[in-house]
Amino acid sequence: MSNFHIKHLEEYYQVYRKSVTNPEAFWEEIAEEHFLWRKRWNNVLKWDFSKPEVKWFEGAKLNITENCIDRHLLTRGEKTAILFEPNDPNEKAQHITYNELYKRVNKFANVLKQQGVKKGDRVCIYLPMIPELAISVLACARIGAIHSVVFAGFSATALATRINDSDCRIVITSDGSYRGKKTIDLKSIVDDALTETPNVKNVLVVKRIKSDIHMKTGRDKWLAPLLDEASDICEPEIMDAEDPLFILYTSGSTGKPKGMVHTTAGYMVYTAFSFKNAFQYTENDVYWCTADIGWITGHSYIVYGPLANGATTLMFEGAPTYPDWGRFWEIIQKHKVNQFYTAPTAIRALAKENLDFVEKYDLSSLKVLGTVGEPINEEAWHWYNDNIGKKKCPIIDTWWQTETGGIMISPIPYATPTKPTYATLPFPGIQPALMDENGNEIKENQVNGKLCIKFPWPSMARTIWGNHQRYYDTYFSAFKNNYFTGDGAFRDEVGYYRITGRVDDVIIVSGHNLGTAPIEDAINEHPAVAESAIVGFPHDIKGNALYGYVILKEIGESRNHDNLRKEINQIITEHIGPIAKLDKIQFTKGLPKTRSGKIMRRILRKIAVGEMDNLGDISTLLNPEVVEEIILKRL
Ligand code: PRX
Repeated sequence: MSNFHIKHLEEYYQVYRKSVTNPEAFWEEIAEEHFLWRKRWNNVLKWDFSKPEVKWFEGAKLNITENCIDRHLLTRGEKTAILFEPNDPNEKAQHITYNELYKRVNKFANVLKQQGVKKGDRVCIYLPMIPELAISVLACARIGAIHSVVFAGFSATALATRINDSDCRIVITSDGSYRGKKTIDLKSIVDDALTETPNVKNVLVVKRIKSDIHMKTGRDKWLAPLLDEASDICEPEIMDAEDPLFILYTSGSTGKPKGMVHTTAGYMVYTAFSFKNAFQYTENDVYWCTADIGWITGHSYIVYGPLANGATTLMFEGAPTYPDWGRFWEIIQKHKVNQFYTAPTAIRALAKENLDFVEKYDLSSLKVLGTVGEPINEEAWHWYNDNIGKKKCPIIDTWWQTETGGIMISPIPYATPTKPTYATLPFPGIQPALMDENGNEIKENQVNGKLCIKFPWPSMARTIWGNHQRYYDTYFSAFKNNYFTGDGAFRDEVGYYRITGRVDDVIIVSGHNLGTAPIEDAINEHPAVAESAIVGFPHDIKGNALYGYVILKEIGESRNHDNLRKEINQIITEHIGPIAKLDKIQFTKGLPKTRSGKIMRRILRKIAVGEMDNLGDISTLLNPEVVEEIILKRL
C-alpha cells in the first residue's frame, strides 16, 4: 500500500491531506492492511480532549508481539531481528533471528508467568543495553504485563520512586553492566532501591559481567536456569486495543516523574507506520538507533517500530568513545548500517574529535541519518551532513516526545527537502497548531508560537499512571481542546516547523528531559542548603547545561565552597543520576522573587547566559537588591 511508504513530496502532500480530511478512514486503511488482529475494532476513534479521553481501534483484539515476531516467522524466520553489538569490540556480535527471538521471548514470558506475573501487573525492567532488555520488554507484552523500563543510569532513589509509583512487584536486572572501560554494579543499585520498595518480592537477575554478587535468598533469582527449564512456546495473551502496553516515566517541571501510559493498538500502528516512513526502511537494510531502550526513542524505534516492520534493528551496549572516538563509525562499517539515528549531543561531541576517526571507515552503506531529542544546531547539522552522510544522505530532524509515542514532525527522507535546524513538516495524521499568548491559534506563517496538537493521533499517551487529573492539567488545560507540548516553535514561509525549545521549566540536557523541581528538591536535601533554583544555559556539546543558584543556611556559610559544590552534585547523583549534575553552582544570599513568593527564573536565566542588560523591570520584585549581588558573583 502506497501510503505506508511515502516516496515523493507530492505523495506526502496527498497522503497528508487525506490523513487530516478523513483521519478515521486513513488510519483504518493502514490498520487493516498491515497488522494481525484477533478481532476487528468497532470504532476507529473516539475522543474528547476536554476529559481527556482518547480511544483508538476500540473493540479490537490483538497481541503486539504477534505483530512484531510471530507473523514474520514464515517469511523472515532466519532474518536477523536484533543485531547485538557488545561494548567490547573483541566480543562477537550476536545475530538474533526472528525464529530465535520468538523462542527467547516465549521462554522469558513463561518464566514471568511462573513467577506469578499476570496480565495488567507492572514489571520494572532495569537493565543495560543487552538483548535481554528487548526480550524482557517483549515478554511482558506477550503475557499482557505492563512494562516499566527505568533507564539504567538512574540512581537507586529514582528507581525506587518509579517502582513505587506504579507498584511494580517484580524487578528484572543484571549483575552489572559494561560501559566503555567501566563496569557498573547495577545489582547493588537495585538492592539499595529495594530498601524503599516494600512490595517488591521478586528480582530476576541476568548474568552479564559474571561478577560475584550478593543474592538475597527467597527474593533474587538468576534468570538463566529458569529460562533453561521454560518452554519456548507461550500463547500470546489477547489484549484489548486500549489495554496499557507500558509505562514510561518522564520528568515534569514540577512534582514527581510522570508515568506516561501508552496503550496497545494505536501505539503499534503509529510506531510501525512512522518507522517505515521516517527511515524508508527496505527489506535487507540494517537499521541502528543509538538511544537506550530506557527512553521512549528506544521503545518506539529500537524495539516496537522496527520489529513490527520485520526489520533488523541494531542494539549497541557500549559508549561512542570506547575503545576510541571512532566506535560508531566502525560499527556502521562492520554491520553495513543503512539508517543511523542518534542525538545532536552525540554529534557535537564526535564533531569535536579528529576527523581521522571518521575517515578511517567506509560509511557508504548509509542512506538516512536521523537526529532526535533536542534541537540540532546548524554547525552540527552540517558536520553530520558533510562528514557522515557525505552530502548524500537526507538528515531527518525528528521532533517528538515521550508523551507522543512516535515521531510527530520530521522530513520524510528523499521526499521532503531538508533545511538545517528545521524538523520541517508534520507526519501524516499529525495536526500541529501554533498558539499566541492569548491562547488563540495563529494561522499565518513566519510566526513563533506555543506548539500544540489539535487532533488525536494513535500513539499519544492516554494518561499519567494513577493521576488522570495531572494528565489533564499538564497537557490539556492551557489551550482548550488542544494537546500542549510544552515547546515553542517557529513556522517559516512554506510551513516548515523549527522547534525553538521548552517554554516551561523543563531543561533538555544532552537530549534528556530534566525538570527543575526534582533537582531543586534533591539539592535542598543537603543539610547546609536553605533554598535553590536551577536554570539552563547553552553548552557546546550538551545543548544546555544546568546553572544552580543556592542559598546556604548559616551552617553552610563558613564551609569550603568547592567541597559544598561536590557534595551538592553527589546528592543530585544519588537522587536522580549523574545526568542531572550541575555545571555551575553559585552561592547567593537571596533569589529574586515576586511579591507572591514565586522565584523569577526569567531573571536567573538571563544572568546565567550573561544577558544582564536585558533583565526587564525588576522594581516590582519583592527583593530587587539581590539581583545586583547575583550579577556581581556570577560564575
Ligand atoms: O523539547 C523537545 C525536545 O525533547 C522534548 C521531549 O523529550 P522526551 O520526552 O525525553 O523525548 C525525547 C525523544 C523523543 C521535546 O518536548 N525535542 C525532542 N526532539 C526534538 C526536540 N527539540 C528540538 N528538535 C527535536 N528534533
